[in-house]
Amino acid sequence: MIRAVVACTWFAAACATEPTCATAPGPEMRPGWNCLSCHREGGDATMKQWSAGGTIYEAADSHVCDGTPGVEVVFLDPRGREIERVTTNAAGNFHTATPLPQGFRVAVERDGKRSLMPFPPPAGSCNACHSASPIGGAKGLIRAP
Ligand code: HEC
Ligand code: HEC
Repeated sequence: MIRAVVACTWFAAACATEPTCATAPGPEMRPGWNCLSCHREGGDATMKQWSAGGTIYEAADSHVCDGTPGVEVVFLDPRGREIERVTTNAAGNFHTATPLPQGFRVAVERDGKRSLMPFPPPAGSCNACHSASPIGGAKGLIRAP
């Protein structure tokens, strides 16, 4: 199957297919967008830089404006020790500014169930790969276990 070329990368700026829900600056802004496209050095929100951010959903193909609250996102060091956990808000969004080491791991948890991303994310720009037009081998949006 030939797919349209999408101008998205996990390391760089905005993506041509990014959706728009709530856009007012704050924790519930722009679910589904690559948060780090702005929340990075030199980005639109350079004063508020996150090390990781994204949105969690019920399914890989959920509507991007339909994020899931109350899901825990767990950051681990390369040896599997917990660094931090954050909980998704009403928009399904999460973010952290805590420095994450090279080779960090990430998992999502709900009701005692955990799904671990099978390899270390190359960056904290979770929604860059996990989007409605996924890249980097992702199956789609990040889904709650
Ligand atoms: C198109 C650019 C852009 C995108 C994409 C974006 N933001 Fe923002 N965000 C901003 C701007 C600009 C501000 C205001 C920054 C300031 O006050 O200096 C902001 C503010 C915030 C704040 C409030 C920070 C504070 O302490 O006042 C939070 C939290 C936040 N964004 C989270 C997110 C999350 C989570 C995502 C991804 C789901 C995201 N943002 C995506 C531009 C963006
Ligand atoms: C370079 C692209 C890329 C980035 C960036 C990325 N992921 Fe992934 N992620 C993948 C791929 C590929 C898989 C395996 C295929 C799948 O399950 O979608 C995956 C799988 C996962 C899974 C397991 C899904 C399941 O149900 O088994 C979770 C959870 C996850 N990622 C969360 C995250 C979080 C949180 C971030 C940000 C800290 C992130 N990912 C950043 C590519 C990426």
